[in-house]
Amino acid sequence: MNSPVMQGLTLNTPSYVKNARLIAWVADMAALCKPDTVVWCDGSDEEYARLCEQLVSAGTMKRLNPAKRPNSFLACSDPSDVARVEDRTFICSERQEDAGPTNNWKAPAEMRATLQPLFDGCMRGRTMYVVPFSMGPLGSPIAHIGIELSDSAYVAVNMKLMTRMGKAVFEVLGTDGEFVPCVHTVGAPLASGETDQTAWPCNPTTKYIVHYPETREIWSYGSGYGGNALLGKKCFALRIASTMGKQQGWLAEHMLILGVTNPEGKKYHVAAAFPSACGKTNFAMLIPPKGFEGWKVTTIGDDIAWIKPRADGRLYAINPEAGYFGVAPGTNTLTNPNCMASLDRDVIFTNVALTDDGDIWWEGMSDAPAHAVDWQGKDWTPQIAKETGAKAAHPNARFTVAATNNPALDPAWDDPAGVPIDAFIFGGRRSTTVPLVTEARDWTEGVYMAATMGSETTAAAFGAQGVVRRDPFAMLPFTGYNMSDYFQHWLDMGKKLRDQGAKLPGIFCVNWFRKDEAGKFVWPGFGENMRVLKWMIDRLEGRGQGTEHAFGVSPRFEDIHWDGLNFSAEQYKTVTHIDRAAWGKELELHSELFAQLAHHLPRELEETKAKIEKRLAA
Ligand code: GTP
Ligand code: SPV
Ligand code: MN
Repeated sequence: MNSPVMQGLTLNTPSYVKNARLIAWVADMAALCKPDTVVWCDGSDEEYARLCEQLVSAGTMKRLNPAKRPNSFLACSDPSDVARVEDRTFICSERQEDAGPTNNWKAPAEMRATLQPLFDGCMRGRTMYVVPFSMGPLGSPIAHIGIELSDSAYVAVNMKLMTRMGKAVFEVLGTDGEFVPCVHTVGAPLASGETDQTAWPCNPTTKYIVHYPETREIWSYGSGYGGNALLGKKCFALRIASTMGKQQGWLAEHMLILGVTNPEGKKYHVAAAFPSACGKTNFAMLIPPKGFEGWKVTTIGDDIAWIKPRADGRLYAINPEAGYFGVAPGTNTLTNPNCMASLDRDVIFTNVALTDDGDIWWEGMSDAPAHAVDWQGKDWTPQIAKETGAKAAHPNARFTVAATNNPALDPAWDDPAGVPIDAFIFGGRRSTTVPLVTEARDWTEGVYMAATMGSETTAAAFGAQGVVRRDPFAMLPFTGYNMSDYFQHWLDMGKKLRDQGAKLPGIFCVNWFRKDEAGKFVWPGFGENMRVLKWMIDRLEGRGQGTEHAFGVSPRFEDIHWDGLNFSAEQYKTVTHIDRAAWGKELELHSELFAQLAHHLPRELEETKAKIEKRLAA
């Protein structure tokens, strides 16, 4: 054992850990955070079981009825800690312009001075877990290693499901391998001799989710929930990785990756960016509907894609994650049967309701139970819900599950080489204006579509819901650098591939969420989205028909394969109609965005906008 002792604290460094920088950093952080103990996670099933047991004893998790939901748990968070906190998320680059106008910025020195006293003693009375993880297949040339120090066992067990977590990471790391240091604390130190009385420790008033892109560090304070605390996900795989991608010529994107195979056996790969809680998990696990016999959709990833160009001129994508942290409400056996099947066992549920038979329930899962305990531990009945509007599950309730539980998992999901991307899809949640599907005529027009995308906000982030905001590339909360430079990076990637003589992936914009006058979704969505996917493939193959309009190409009613679905031409019009007045207003919003992003905004995007305006006026 290599165990320097500091202030009475043993670091417990296992003998197989040989990385000097890592050992020194853990010692520094332990000295700062002052935990009672340090535990190095090995990622074993035994360790997972032990930590889960411990979380059950602490009251953080409940074991669900093993007859109904084997090896599964329910955790309910503090009501102040239920979603990502975008207004507490900071990009601390040396220069403010490198964070850009869409990110909260603080100078690194200033932020360090703020965080230092907060982290001093922040883990008192708690255990510091050292969580080694690989984003991407272990040892793959495209994977990157992170080490998360956290005083939350809940984080450690979630990281086991969400990433390649464990001992083998240290072998890859060797004596001098690179890693991204990630420090996380719930920000709730205990007084000397005090035992924790709270089931979900967090800091209800002070939260900081901080990124130092230049030194590639992540510091997270005060929250134990999701993307705030599982630092491999948004913090590393998107915010830090996007800055790495900009420097190194690749892309880190908020995208699902799916494989789709036609009845002739030809396989395509699609990456799709939808904002949080807008249907990535659903689309990634799509089951082709009636009328699509012989078609198959398989999942490579449901939230994040790392995409790298290769010498053959194509873009290859990997899923850096190894599990899903998916939205529970609305998920059911009709909308997403593959997802429901993934949740049969070995799941951690967070903020859903507990039924009287020890199982879980959420709004939209099935008929409501006569009684349940809601996510805040209160009695819940359909009557109470009717009278008070109380939700059994929090709207941002989630499940954590390993990808290997997914019956539709693509055989190549773990392939270090990745899969070649044929098309990119961008889609927001828009009750009006944006048609069902539009194909960009070229790469630049596609980048314009993605850059100007709008979406109604959801419960996935703390704050107002249902208001349209611009969410470029579904990356507004996740781009770790200047958004205009990010647009330029996308344009540059396209140009580079084009110069190589490559055929670029198609770019499409979709909207599953148009509503009628009664406020109901018109498009049936979910499995039926296959019809739109097929049209895209037809277009890629040069056989799909469509009609050209101001901002791209869309299918006419007769261009969609309708077998197995009753959807009238009239209904189709409701979801595809382009309202000139509405688009006039929409373009004003694009102008507002471009004004906000004027510094470094690529000229091509302004030019594309001018062309659209001209066509719209014609
Ligand atoms: P994050 O994990 O937050 O990044 O989100 P995600 O994009 O993976 O979201 P997810 O697939 O879990 O979307 C959940 C919400 O979208 C639920 O409310 C679903 O009912 C809704 N949803 C998904 N697909 C469709 C669709 O085709 N039509 C409609 N109307 N709703 C959909
Ligand atoms: C999202 O909000 O886009 C998520 C969930 O995927 S979280 O990991 O909490 O950010
Ligand atoms: Mn997401």
